[in-house]
Amino acid sequence: MNRRNAFRNLAAFFAASPLTRGQQDIPDTRERYPALDELVNVFEFEPLCKSRIPKPSYDNIAGGVDNEWSLRHNREAFDRISFRPRVLVNTSRMDLSTTLFGTNLAFPVLIAPTAGHQQAHPQGELATARAAAAAKTVMCVSNNSSYSLEKVAEATNAAKWWQLYPAEDDEATRGLVNRAVSSGYKVIVVTVDVPYLGHRERPLRDAPRAPAVRGEGSRSKRAEEAPAHPYGLQARPSSTWDWTYLARVKDWAKTPVLVKGILTGEDAELAVTHGADGVVVSNHGGRLLDYAPATIDVLPEVVQAAGKKIPVIVDSGFRRGTDILKALAIGASAVQIGRPVLWGLGAYGQPGVEKVLQLLETELALAMGLCGKATIGAIDKSLIRMER
Ligand SMILES: Cc1cc2nc3c(=O)[nH]c(=O)nc-3n(C[C@H](O)[C@H](O)[C@H](O)COP(=O)(O)O)c2cc1C
Repeated sequence: MNRRNAFRNLAAFFAASPLTRGQQDIPDTRERYPALDELVNVFEFEPLCKSRIPKPSYDNIAGGVDNEWSLRHNREAFDRISFRPRVLVNTSRMDLSTTLFGTNLAFPVLIAPTAGHQQAHPQGELATARAAAAAKTVMCVSNNSSYSLEKVAEATNAAKWWQLYPAEDDEATRGLVNRAVSSGYKVIVVTVDVPYLGHRERPLRDAPRAPAVRGEGSRSKRAEEAPAHPYGLQARPSSTWDWTYLARVKDWAKTPVLVKGILTGEDAELAVTHGADGVVVSNHGGRLLDYAPATIDVLPEVVQAAGKKIPVIVDSGFRRGTDILKALAIGASAVQIGRPVLWGLGAYGQPGVEKVLQLLETELALAMGLCGKATIGAIDKSLIRMER
């Protein structure tokens, strides 16, 4: 069997498996592994990543929870929003740049914190950080990164943010925050939507071959020795937290502190009341509570509750420039992307991540140009309409 046939057979095997279904069916018409510049959208990276990394790693990245309703609806919800494009606007000079918490971004797309980038590529977060710097945007480094937060900080001089999962006690949590701040991370993003681990069925089926994604958040011995939960749930330290903990993180960090995992206007208001400097509307990419709403559907109520006071960032399911433009029109300051970064990394390493970011930047610019918007500041909610 030659290499081409071997690759085809492998791709056909993956494509046939319902358990490894991707988020969008891309017809596999290519006869060889394509050169990077042949890829035309970010979806195309997913089957290539799938063909290159071990199945358990792919399943861990791709999967949602239970029926994967939220995973699907994160995408489908975008189809209920269309544009009200304006014409005869001079858009010959476009500028997609924006500033968030003192950091300049070439375009309003950030890299969401995702654990264990070595699942996708040996260079892991070091490659991702360099790709973010090359694209002049920001990577938010996960608490569960494959490389230590210090190593990732050293990978580039570009501004980076760091995501915190509460540790088992204040001392341990404070220690993590101190390390991140002294390594130069500009913003701390506290993820609050994981009091318990979600029921991720794809990795469970792969067990015991599922990848052990271990990072700062899972290194603690004391966390491992915690007593069994009476209902057999995998409790995380944040199951003991309430809103008052936010003030502690702010006090330790002395940087802007964002709250990630907001899905209601009520919680957005509480975040403002308790001093959050920004919120991230997120359902964790459909990986925690199934039937959590699509984030684009709840973005309006969060923007209404908090958008005039603090920046609102959103993630979960963003794959197209038009998706990003819809969120900006609703009032988001920026969008984060999770899985597409790992697809780019798994398929081509650092250049793959750069290409994913470049495709999104170009798609956003094109959508803006065709809607008569030359700058991010010119985008407002008159640009969209809700389909029935
Ligand atoms: C493989 C994987 C690992 C993740 N790890 C983390 C994490 O360590 N911390 C965190 O706050 N969110 C984590 N997330 C959630 C992302 O930050 C983000 O909310 C989600 O990926 C956005 O959805 P998308 O993948 O559809 O773009 C993870 C998501 C994935 C897919």
